[in-house]
Amino acid sequence: MAPGSDLSRLKERVASAKDIVVLTGAGISADSGVPTFRGKDGLWRTYRAEDLATPEAFERDPRLVWEWYNWRREVLSTKKPNDAHYAIAQLESRTDRFQLITQNVDGLHRVAGSKNIYELHGDIWKTRCTSCLSVIDNHEVPLSLLPHCQTCAGLLRPHIVWFGEALDQDTLSKSFQAVESCELLLIIGTSGLVYPAAMLMPSAKAHGAFVAEINLDPTPYSSGVDLSIQARAKEIVPLLL
Ligand code: OAD
Repeated sequence: MAPGSDLSRLKERVASAKDIVVLTGAGISADSGVPTFRGKDGLWRTYRAEDLATPEAFERDPRLVWEWYNWRREVLSTKKPNDAHYAIAQLESRTDRFQLITQNVDGLHRVAGSKNIYELHGDIWKTRCTSCLSVIDNHEVPLSLLPHCQTCAGLLRPHIVWFGEALDQDTLSKSFQAVESCELLLIIGTSGLVYPAAMLMPSAKAHGAFVAEINLDPTPYSSGVDLSIQARAKEIVPLLL
């Protein structure tokens, strides 16, 4: 649990800031039972990212990649937002200007009621046609193992940014604009190891934002932020309101 003084300092910042950005990672959904990527039971400890989350893997064996994403969709379909997701949605409704940047693809922020969201790494509940590039919502669980586009019959892929791929330019530039102009950046549950998302924190600091981190463990950010609280997101975030 955080020392009381850190928590009250952060509460004051949250209460007074008129422009807040929240950046989240897998740790915020860990309390909903969603596996993280690099933790003790993280996905990348059991699965090889290069076999499942790269364009080359999809080209080699789209069935295997869809099998994995189908399994993840099945797991996620049983999960619900936790108190931290709900608190962030409430914060949005109470703040003059509020932007949420997430690396998560699980959609739980939207289910909790967040609206102004930049999904840096895509959305597991969307498919993209490899041929006509159209992106559509798809909540079927499971999907057929080689799903095809209803418009052009091209092969569909998960609408996820894989290793080696570029992030959506518009989403990325809006995210950088957000952190460069905000008063307070709250970073919750990310290891800070994946680029370019990892650059958002130094960019916020360089532009004068107060930066606070909430994470179960220390991260590469911890020594550079203004305030770092080591605790579970679902225990701390609701206390900030
Ligand atoms: P990681 O798995 O790398 O890190 C999860 C972070 O959450 C760690 O720093 C944990 O200490 C912290 N954590 C775990 N449980 C927590 C809890 N209950 N409360 C607070 N913090 C907790 O996940 P990300 O940083 O999100 O990319 O990973 C970034 C990207 O790497 C992901 O978006 C994914 C992955 O490859 C794509 O899928 C494209």
